[in-house]
This record gives sequence, structure tokens and C-alpha cells, in this order.
Amino acid sequence: MAETSTSELQADSLLAWYDRHRRDLPWRARPGETADPYRVWLSEIMLQQTQVQAVIPYFLSFLERWPDVGALGAAPREEVMAAWAGLGYYARARRLHDCARQIAGELDGVFPDTEAGLRALPGIGAYTSGAVAAIAFDRPAAAVDGNVERVMARSYAIGAPMPAAKKEIRKRTQALVPTDRPGDFAQALMDLGATICTPRRPACGLCPWRDACAGRLAGIAEELPRPAPRKERPHRHGLVFWLERDDGAVLLRTRPDEGLLGGMMEAPTTPWREAPWTLEEALPHAPLAGDWELLPDLVRHGFTHFTIDLKVAVLSGATAPGHGSWHHPESFDSLALPTLTRKVVRHAFSAGRRSPR
Ligand code: ADE
Repeated sequence: MAETSTSELQADSLLAWYDRHRRDLPWRARPGETADPYRVWLSEIMLQQTQVQAVIPYFLSFLERWPDVGALGAAPREEVMAAWAGLGYYARARRLHDCARQIAGELDGVFPDTEAGLRALPGIGAYTSGAVAAIAFDRPAAAVDGNVERVMARSYAIGAPMPAAKKEIRKRTQALVPTDRPGDFAQALMDLGATICTPRRPACGLCPWRDACAGRLAGIAEELPRPAPRKERPHRHGLVFWLERDDGAVLLRTRPDEGLLGGMMEAPTTPWREAPWTLEEALPHAPLAGDWELLPDLVRHGFTHFTIDLKVAVLSGATAPGHGSWHHPESFDSLALPTLTRKVVRHAFSAGRRSPR
């Protein structure tokens, strides 16, 4: 363990490394600038479960469209969901919007500047409250996400499997947070995890903590943190109904707010279940009776907790209204279409059928 190493893990050496190697990211204040809590909060919500490179274009377009928390709070829900489409984990977008409304309304546009105050808001848990308190307000808070867990598990050679190791990791991280520059310390740990202490083949030779890292000294850094035993992801099946009107509009509907892809749009579908659907079995779930035609091939998609195969049945020339709303393919870009629905769109327009543009 750490006590056997000759050198000590210290915030100072990490901060000195950060001063030379910090990533230039659009939500980050440059040295000497004051952090903008809105940018910090928005980026941290987007960065939950999502890679930096995927977040950057979304962050920039949100900022251009809604430059402050008041503007975001005043935006219509559908516009926020549509702008978020493709980032995944859509409950985040709903809570982001709820949070913006609350800050813009009850809090007069002012972000709480403590961990506890932030934590009371929608969508802000232990990680985000710590990150925003540290980065935006220089509070001595720990921000422990997956990257930081990896750095700390290695640095202290914490060999317990996840999630049991979390408690010790958190305690160790908090103990290291300096009173001077806690925000930079939080970001330095994130950068170290992203660029040096990577999941595979960490670049230990370049690490500011190389002489103190208990995992490296024991030769087990790359094995840590030990993962939880893997559960098989279950597999599901569904059948989607692609209904086109004579003028080319397509029937879509909005999923319920709560649950998977909440508030996002989809083409009507059967329930998703373990066994594949035949067209005949699926027809009672169709939005309209008619001569449905099954397309060849499937749409395949992976969610965090399961994978799914969707068959797609098409019917053109509909005149009856059906339940849902009709949209022309030219307007799809402005709708809240999650990646799964975008795959269905591509599939429906493939195989020699009309193109969406
Ligand atoms: N991952 C989560 N938050 C981050 C941040 N502020 N900078 C870089 N990577 C991050």
C-alpha cells in the first residue's frame, strides 16, 4: 500500500504537471480567468457518461443558442431535447432543463456556490456537485468520476473490486484535495486520467505521480481498478411501424417522460421483449390496419443495459390520422430523434426506397 512507497502522492506535483499539460477545453477558464458556473455546470452534465470529444460540439451549440442559464430555462422543452438528440441518456437533458428553470426562477439566475446547495438541484449528484463546487467556486470538494476512480485506485493500489472500492477511493481523493486551487486539482485529476493514466497501457513514465504510485510500484497499475463481475447484457426484440402519408410525412410519437429515451421521438413500435416478433403477431400494435410490408434486415442498437434488434414494417399512402404526429423528413433534423430512431429512419429510407433528403 501507499505507506511502503518512498515518495508521497501530493497535490502540488499534480498541479505543476497540470500547469504544463492542461487540455484547452471550451468550458475551461484560462489561467487568470474566472470560471463561469453556467459553462462549468453545462459541461459537467454533458460529460456524465460521455467522452470529451463527443461533448464539445454539443456544448458549443448549446452555448451559442442559450448563452446563460436564464436563456436555457426559458427555452421550450422540445427545443432542448432536440438539441440534445444524439448525446444519449435523455433523462439528463430533462433534468438539465428543470435545473435551469429552477435556477433562473427561484434562484434569480444565481448558481448555489456550495456542494450541498448544488446537490439539491435536479440532475446534480455527488460527482457533479463536487465538480461544479470545485471548478466554478474553488470549494475544496472532491469530484470522483470513473477516470478519477481509476487514477486513485492505482495510486493507492486499492485492490478491492468495484463498486466496493468506491468508499476508500472517495476518502483518499477527498484527503488529497488542496485548499489552494481545488478546482484545478479536480481538473488535473481528470486530465491525468484521460491522457496518462488511461484504462489500457497507461503512460506511467510521463506521470507526475510515477514515484509515489503504489499500483505502479507493485506492478499492478494496469489491472486496477478491478471490475465488478460482468453481467450479460440481455437482448431484446421489437417491430417498428413506419407509416408514410401520401405527401411523404411520417408518423412519429413522443415517448413518455419517464423511462428509457424519455421525452424523445420514435416511430410507433411493439413492446420490446425477449422473443423476436413476426409481422402477424405485431399487427395488433400497428398504428393503422393495412398491408404492412416487412423490410429486409434489422436495426441493431446497444443501450447500457441491453441490446436490441428492431424489424421495420412499412406502409405508404396512409390517409387516416393515427395516434402521434406527422413530420416531413426535411424537418427531422430539428426533432428530438435519439440515435436509435435515426437508425430506423436510415433503414426505412435504405434498400432502394426514397432518401430522407
Ligand atoms: N470529464 C468530466 N468533467 C471534465 C472536465 N471538466 N474536463 C475534462 N474532462 C472532464
